[in-house]
Amino acid sequence: MVGTRRLGSLFVPVPSPVTVVVPAKINLHLGVGPRRADGYHELQTVFQAINIVDELTAYPGPGLSVFVRGGEQDAVPTDSSNLAIRAAALLAEHTGVDASARLVIRKEIPVAGGMAGGSADAAAALIACDALWQTGLPRARLAELAAELGSDVPFCLQGGTALGTGRGEVLTPVLGRGLYWWVVAIAAEGLSTAAVYAELDKQRGADASATPPDAVLAALRVGDPFQLAEAMHNDMQPAALTLRPALKATLAAGLDLGAIGGMVSGSGPTCLFLARSHAAAIRIGSAMTAENICRTVRVVKGPVPGPRVEG
Ligand code: C5P
Repeated sequence: MVGTRRLGSLFVPVPSPVTVVVPAKINLHLGVGPRRADGYHELQTVFQAINIVDELTAYPGPGLSVFVRGGEQDAVPTDSSNLAIRAAALLAEHTGVDASARLVIRKEIPVAGGMAGGSADAAAALIACDALWQTGLPRARLAELAAELGSDVPFCLQGGTALGTGRGEVLTPVLGRGLYWWVVAIAAEGLSTAAVYAELDKQRGADASATPPDAVLAALRVGDPFQLAEAMHNDMQPAALTLRPALKATLAAGLDLGAIGGMVSGSGPTCLFLARSHAAAIRIGSAMTAENICRTVRVVKGPVPGPRVEG
């Protein structure tokens, strides 16, 4: 995208900033298979994008930098380990353009909450810088770069509901019905994804097989929240509960308050509850907030479409 700026009597072209809004993800099913030679685990997972979003704006450079705004801004690294910076640098390297962008992230997705906050920002940075630098990469090529950045980044480019295999980066869209109301309980302190996988290997050996996602896929085909509540499953939950035993009380509270299903989301520590309706979700969310059992509670819906370019 290009605008113009007056320089004396000349109008010179300057790229206009690009803003991308990108959703968080939850896992309706997370089946974890054996640990591979590269250290990653074979997954059979069902991702769903929800309406908790980060907003990333890419301004013209100089150089590559990132600024984070929002409640948790201090928890996000702003050096070259930041996933959005890494995404922009990878795109620049791949296309041969100058790596020159100032990325400003308005952060709503919990940090280290198992909801792909960093991966969402990386996906947004790929889309925003591709537009800012007019590199025009096809979606399939952006998805390949996304997979180099992290297992969840390809889904964050795509949105909706999808089956993820491989290490999570091989995606097949799920043709499901229905809109689901979720209550998301965000813990005070994050959990490291790598630490939860390591604990899981310790508990069940590194060559265990993944629980297949068939029951969740069948429930999504029917579009029945009660069937989905029965089917939702997370192989990582025992490991997350070992590392963070307080989550057991959070899960029990949500179910006591009327959620029809509840489990740890992804590698945790966020807990995810399915409600029978929007009204029920608001009721459960308010009661959980009053119980003060976790840091924040959000009522959200899914699926939502993937990232969108604003303006
Ligand atoms: O791919 P990503 O950087 O998000 O993964 C973070 C960590 O989670 C990896 O370093 C690895 O320890 C673990 N992981 C895994 N198997 C996967 C995905 C992630 O073991 N399929």
